[in-house]
Amino acid sequence: MHPFDQLDRTRLRGRPGAKWQRYGPDVLPLWVADMDFEPPPPVLAALAGQMATGDLGYSMKPDPSPVAVAFASWMSRRHGWEVDPRDVMVTQDVIQALQTSIHLFSEPGDGVAIQTPIYPPFLASVESMGRRLVDNPLRRGAGGYELDAEGLRASLEVESCSILLLCNPHNPTGRVFSVEELSALAELAVEFDLTVISDEIHADLVFPGSVHTPFASLPGTAERTVTLNSATKSFNIAGLRCAVAHVSSGRLRDRFGSLPGHIFGGVNVFGARATEAVWTEGAEWLADLMDHLGKMRELVVEGVGDHLPGAEIIAPEATYLSWIDCRGMELPVEPSRFFLKEAKVALNPGPDFGSHGGGHVRLNFATSSEVIGEAFERMAGALR
Ligand SMILES: Cc1ncc(COP(=O)(O)O)c(C=O)c1O
Repeated sequence: MHPFDQLDRTRLRGRPGAKWQRYGPDVLPLWVADMDFEPPPPVLAALAGQMATGDLGYSMKPDPSPVAVAFASWMSRRHGWEVDPRDVMVTQDVIQALQTSIHLFSEPGDGVAIQTPIYPPFLASVESMGRRLVDNPLRRGAGGYELDAEGLRASLEVESCSILLLCNPHNPTGRVFSVEELSALAELAVEFDLTVISDEIHADLVFPGSVHTPFASLPGTAERTVTLNSATKSFNIAGLRCAVAHVSSGRLRDRFGSLPGHIFGGVNVFGARATEAVWTEGAEWLADLMDHLGKMRELVVEGVGDHLPGAEIIAPEATYLSWIDCRGMELPVEPSRFFLKEAKVALNPGPDFGSHGGGHVRLNFATSSEVIGEAFERMAGALR
């Protein structure tokens, strides 16, 4: 059996983090985007190595930072994207850099284009910062969820918009957008002079058959793109808080330089050491992880087909998140509420992902086949 499939339920229940604690001991938690697996060995070695020095004081700040160097090397090896480490800022988290970018590259009242359904902090950031949401929903095409460049053009012609906020690979649908789709957006970004904030945190969780294209690697895009990334999703270290923002345009970088020096906080030495470690030697662990996640993805697709009559799912091309359309199930209440109350399975409610998320749920399958099997049995039982 795959080591990722050998999860000890007592140990899972005892995990102190939000995933296993929020809903109480009788609920199976398939919600927030944390995985149920132990940290990768390079992370444990990096953290132990730091402890062994006995030094938890202020760290040296070489320029470029070792995290930036590791990111550049990882991007080159995994995605064929050549990045200059001097263009990489190290931040505490992705959403912090996303909000800073919104602050710098738009004014209150400006439009920010977003492809819904979308990771809820995108919506909350735009709204709480007084910008306007310009919704460019994904459309259902032959290939599943697709970017709608014509729809975006129509919106841009009537809305004053300064930012395109892209999530690629896409949370919650798991779509890995094609070069053609992204190029159509890139053309619009140039034509309408948009700054693109491209959140690529799921780039390393792509299943065989799909290829991730960094948006800033497309012709004409680097000048206007801020790329956000982090090792926290792929290597299950969200609690360590470390992320990067890549900005190769001098014009955009000068704007970041105009911010007070501590706006990104100081980077935690453990987060930096762990991130550097996995972007240097995490490939083997990641390959095993993707192998396991591929099997869990199959179980979820089968589970929906076998146990949730009327529900629809399109197998995600990336991420350990699946977006399930429950509208055909005709449940008496919002689906996540139904499954939480009647099946004791915690899923993310679709409406959190924008107005088009009604009737959907997001299910996190980064766990064992036993947990997924039990979750579907519980949901089937609740339907009976
Ligand atoms: C698309 C996306 N961006 C950002 C994050 C969170 O990043 P951070 O914790 O570094 O803010 C997540 C977490 O699930 C995510 O899915």
